[in-house]
Amino acid sequence: MIHIDILTLFPELFESPFGYSIIKRAKEKNLVNIHLHNIRNYSTNKHRSVDDYPFGGGAGMVMQIEPIDNCITSLKKLRTYDEVIYMSPDGEMFNQKVANQLSTQANLILLCGHYKGIDERIREHLITREISIGNYVLTGGELAAAVVVDAVVRLIPGAMGDEQSALSDSFQDDLISPPVYTRPATYKGWNVPEILLSGHQAKIDEWRYNQSVMRTKERRPDLLDEK
Ligand code: ADE
Repeated sequence: MIHIDILTLFPELFESPFGYSIIKRAKEKNLVNIHLHNIRNYSTNKHRSVDDYPFGGGAGMVMQIEPIDNCITSLKKLRTYDEVIYMSPDGEMFNQKVANQLSTQANLILLCGHYKGIDERIREHLITREISIGNYVLTGGELAAAVVVDAVVRLIPGAMGDEQSALSDSFQDDLISPPVYTRPATYKGWNVPEILLSGHQAKIDEWRYNQSVMRTKERRPDLLDEK
């Protein structure tokens, strides 16, 4: 069971990504416990403000340290966190290896930023790890956090119907997946590869492996270089 606390100004953004399919089932089976915390509820000033103008001037607002520190401090009283992660385009690139590693942790905090950024002292003193989901800038960390949670939760044993399927994913062995087909075997004259209908499991496995290697060479040679 993984406990994930998400700190955000827009908890509603997570309703749909966490409300269906594997993530929904994993929550129902208590394989994952996801708590959304609205950072605004931890603001102590009378306007419940969460952001302010940047010192030194410049465009955009900066998320303030106090509400975020209040929230993290109150959570840390309840449990010990393996990582306090800030979702940021400046962070380490998210990939299957990072997902695998996070899926073995017990307690995680994911902080979603907005505006121009967060007060640097949060990163210096409260954050243990920064993760980016790609070299592009999103309007906030929420969609990135949803991506991370999705990739992590499906790896928790029992989250997927067929336990094998998470292991045979693309990227688990730095190879992309072989093509898959289902009925009908012929559609508009487009045929499924004969070998898959042969019933010869060893040959089918070999064909799939060869397809994976071929596809990886063609489409993602960078994955082979990583070895
Ligand atoms: N916040 C804004 N852009 C992001 C990105 N690419 N990855 C993670 N968090 C982000």
